[in-house]
Amino acid sequence: MKILGIETSCDETAVSIVEGTNIVSEKIFSQVSLHSEYAGVVPELASREHLRKLNLLIQEALTEAGINYEDIDAVAVTAYPGLEGSLLVGLTSARTLSYLLNIPIKEVDHIEAHLFSHVFTQLPPPPGIGLVISGGHSRLFYIKKWGDYEIIGDTRDDAVGESFDKVASLLGLPYPGGPSIEKASRGVRENRFNFPVSKLGNSYDFSYSGLKTAVLYKIKYDLKEISGEKELKELASSFQKAALTPLVKNSIKAAEDYSADWIFVCGGVAANSRLRELFDEKSPENIKAYFPGVRLCTDNASMVAACGGFYLKKEA
Ligand code: KG4
Ligand code: ZN
Repeated sequence: MKILGIETSCDETAVSIVEGTNIVSEKIFSQVSLHSEYAGVVPELASREHLRKLNLLIQEALTEAGINYEDIDAVAVTAYPGLEGSLLVGLTSARTLSYLLNIPIKEVDHIEAHLFSHVFTQLPPPPGIGLVISGGHSRLFYIKKWGDYEIIGDTRDDAVGESFDKVASLLGLPYPGGPSIEKASRGVRENRFNFPVSKLGNSYDFSYSGLKTAVLYKIKYDLKEISGEKELKELASSFQKAALTPLVKNSIKAAEDYSADWIFVCGGVAANSRLRELFDEKSPENIKAYFPGVRLCTDNASMVAACGGFYLKKEA
């Protein structure tokens, strides 16, 4: 079954053709350069750019796969959550294709789609723990089976990716903040500044607004100004450590409490190599953390096609 996946929920226009666990073709147009001067995504610009790019990318994906529209068996599209105008571009295109080609359509949840990037990795069967960490969400799932989850921890205020983006902007590092902070932190000591590591009682929830404010106050009132490259890098790496620690701690605690032997970590922040190291260092022997390939952490349409494919197969 060849499934055409479409993703336009935020600032990537993405199209994939997926057959089972095989990505036949994949096209992504990132709008990063369009939004970077604003240090964040401008919704109106994002939807206009999706409109400009989506049809071209669908055509390119078909050409790369060596197939025509008639060869697509179903279409899957991100329906929510996301920027309304941007979602509408993908949804309208997917519904039109489904109608004209007379093929089924599956409208999927973007956060669940991130979990479905597992289709392209070697993951043991459920139960397990899922951690979705992106620009909009920090959410912990108990995965009873695929399609059946319990949300056991969630974002209380800012999402973790959002805190990377905001702190990068405070430090004058380019957007998106995650990769910039990771790069600035490489090989730099993490304990120069003791930023607070959030801990919300016994809950698995996440909070990042306090950490962001702590970095701001440190720069504004303590340091007054950043003395140079070295101090900037130490601020970045100390922030990164404080931001990643609760992700690792809460996930391992959840795996222990729910007797799960694996944790699947996905979403844009899962691309972070320090996070991968921390999971390796801190996980007890009976718990293993799995990650998608770096390219499949940030928004893409392969995960959307995989998620849609799962439900279409289930309903068949
Ligand atoms: O999943 P994603 O592409 O979009 C959403 O669904 O939000 O995640 C984007 C987020 C951004 O906040 C970005 O700064 C963050 O993921 N990110 C990273 C890294 N790469 C992307 N955060 C930390 N380290 C990275 N290497
Ligand atoms: Zn996402």
